Amino acid sequence: MTAPEPSLLVFGATGSLGRHVLNALLDRGLAPESITAVGRNRPRLSELASAGFNTAAVDLSDAVGVADVVARHTDVVLISGSDPNRCAQHISVIAAAKGADVRHVYYTSGVRADDDRFQINADHKATEDALIASGLTYTILRNTWYIENYIPALAACRHTGVLAAATGDAVVAAASRLDLAEALAVVATTEGHDNVSYGLSGDTDFSYADIAEAMSVVLERDVIYQPVAPDELRALLAGSGMSEELASFLVNLDETIAAGAFARVGDDLSRLLGRPTTGLVAGLRAP
Ligand SMILES: NC(=O)c1ccc[n+]([C@@H]2O[C@H](COP(=O)([O-])OP(=O)(O)OC[C@H]3O[C@@H](n4cnc5c(N)ncnc54)[C@H](OP(=O)(O)O)[C@@H]3O)[C@@H](O)[C@H]2O)c1
Repeated sequence: MTAPEPSLLVFGATGSLGRHVLNALLDRGLAPESITAVGRNRPRLSELASAGFNTAAVDLSDAVGVADVVARHTDVVLISGSDPNRCAQHISVIAAAKGADVRHVYYTSGVRADDDRFQINADHKATEDALIASGLTYTILRNTWYIENYIPALAACRHTGVLAAATGDAVVAAASRLDLAEALAVVATTEGHDNVSYGLSGDTDFSYADIAEAMSVVLERDVIYQPVAPDELRALLAGSGMSEELASFLVNLDETIAAGAFARVGDDLSRLLGRPTTGLVAGLRAP
């Protein structure tokens, strides 16, 4: 049996972060045919195939399909999934990589993954633990909160001029997906990142008043931050026709932010990029 050619498998390639990761890998000189893009979204996979990438339609819950595609590659990027059972899915990717003697696994985790105050990170922590315990060579990229997460609120603020959130006086060192994708591409194409975990924050801690101010610039209208209590936010969201489940999820997220989950952890991101991270206004204007 001949060893496989060096090649990079990217789980989550069909998603928003994955799109930027693929572009960033090309920008750094990788040929599309050396990369296999994995996801479930077949129309998106067809577009990627037309752009020269290898593609594989594999559901992360299909352990056999996962093992098969992993075995044909030397390096694996695992962009965290979004299913409720994603932790088991991630662990099956790690098991497949271990079984196939994969050279390096890159995992996009969450900032403060090891801080057990933040339940939002439980899957990331369990995945990190499994990856480290596997003995595989790894790099963990603990991604911060995306600036783009505020784009739906930006659209609403165009009409209301009010950014209502139950985040109190919290700060977030949010970063753009583009920056986080570029950092992943840097790590995957340069030496010196074996068995390292990076905490990837934006350079600046933004308050919600800062975010409202950035929205004012982007929208060319006044936007103010209105702090609300969690129950008040739940009622506001329910009043807008949102399901109770989604409203509770969003309120919980605000409470997590209020507790400091996404405040700055250091300068790993700008160091990997070799430049300052993208600011709020540019991030909110992202395509
Ligand atoms: N840092 C943050 O602020 C933040 C916010 C939200 C999410 N996240 C995490 O970061 C990840 C990447 O962010 P994103 O913005 O790119 O999310 P996204 O646009 O929703 O993309 C998620 C990616 O995961 C793939 N995926 C999910 N479940 C899968 C499954 N069962 N089998 C195969 N592929 C599966 C999707 O594939 P298909 O679309 O082809 O099904 C897609 O490629 C998310 O999945 C989530 O874990 C981070």
